[in-house]
Amino acid sequence: MEPNTQKLIHSFGALADLGQEVADTGDFIEMVRTSLHLLLGTLAIRRGAVVESPRHQLPEDKSTNQLAIWGLGDDYPARFDVEDSDRETFLNSPDGAFQITGSTDSVSDRVSSDVQSPTSNIQSPGFINRYQAELKAQELQLIVPMIVRGDLTGLVLLGGKASGDPFTPDDIEVIRSMVRHIGVGIHTHRLLGEVKQQAEENRRLYQDLRAIYRDTVRAFAAAIDIKDKYTQGHSERVGRYSEIIAREMGWGEEEVEGMAIAGYLHDVGKLVVERDIINAPYRIDAKESSELNRHPAAGYEILSPIHHPYADIPLMAKYHHERMDGRGYPDGLTDKQIPIGAKIVTLADSFDAMTTDRPYKTRRTFAEVITDFRLNTGPQFDPVVVAAFCRALLKELNGETKERRFLQMLGKDYLDAEKDAPLLKELIAELSPPQSAAARTS
Ligand SMILES: [Fe+2]
Repeated sequence: MEPNTQKLIHSFGALADLGQEVADTGDFIEMVRTSLHLLLGTLAIRRGAVVESPRHQLPEDKSTNQLAIWGLGDDYPARFDVEDSDRETFLNSPDGAFQITGSTDSVSDRVSSDVQSPTSNIQSPGFINRYQAELKAQELQLIVPMIVRGDLTGLVLLGGKASGDPFTPDDIEVIRSMVRHIGVGIHTHRLLGEVKQQAEENRRLYQDLRAIYRDTVRAFAAAIDIKDKYTQGHSERVGRYSEIIAREMGWGEEEVEGMAIAGYLHDVGKLVVERDIINAPYRIDAKESSELNRHPAAGYEILSPIHHPYADIPLMAKYHHERMDGRGYPDGLTDKQIPIGAKIVTLADSFDAMTTDRPYKTRRTFAEVITDFRLNTGPQFDPVVVAAFCRALLKELNGETKERRFLQMLGKDYLDAEKDAPLLKELIAELSPPQSAAARTS
């Protein structure tokens, strides 16, 4: 095989290896280091360095960053300032390989005089003049800019060949090809870094927005409750009970958060109901009652033009007074027609109504609440929702969870673990789907 052909095959092999290395998205620094070794090995060059140009073209940020170094002093920083004029020169010579001249005994002089080198016609940039002495001291002879998509990604600095032979035009071609590969690798890595940073930034913004949304909704809930002087904190508590139930039902974090929002906003329609009716210190009559019963539909009207980041909040407000048996309002929906979220709000709403004092009645005992649940599960409440509520409360009473959310909302004297836990267990057992005969006997 002719030496030239052999060399060509060798170069192509090195390029293939380099392509493989660059495409590997693992350890970036390792990728650059291996690429430099491949480049040096292909042409038997003793030393070299890869530096990346500053990422942001700011006046105070013009130093290159060393990515890989071989055969140079361990403490050699390979750090250079790239001025605007240097950048311009490098960019205007996209195929350039700049040699370090000005010496009478360096190999590079022989390159330019003996060989028709592609480097010979290029005017040395100010960069080389500034760093000539330093680069020569490190026995570096060639500077090859990495230009990717019209931007200076960095520089590859190379020493002479181990043989002492000058670089031939073919050598320079091989070097350029390999340097282009390395440049693309660095460029891609930078892009991926930027994309990651952008994604992280977006994630933070999204979190902030959600927090703002949630805080705004809570403030809104407080405003709804202010209108009703007897049920202070009702919307906030319904939000928190709804959240607890949804979590117990195994819902995802976002859906759970959506349920809290639905709870906070379920009575927003009361904003359009007369304050006197809401605050009536007696049982309201039929006319007043039908006025008050407008609030779910009014809530839907208020909430539907808003784009909520969660599940269907407006529908949960609209249907929180529907009943499984179809005797609720506003639409008289039955079981499957009622969204599960609305069923959760219904139970949370009823539980809070039963466990807080109203002007015309004091709150019920827990045993009475359980009796109400037993009586109304089926006609009014969904058994799945009631069971989840009871399980969550039982976990708190048994100390299975460190959270004391029920305790905070109901006050420390309301629940009695010893008496109430058995009531909950009994109701949970009643609500559990009956086991098959086979399962019972096994
Ligand atoms: Fe309501």
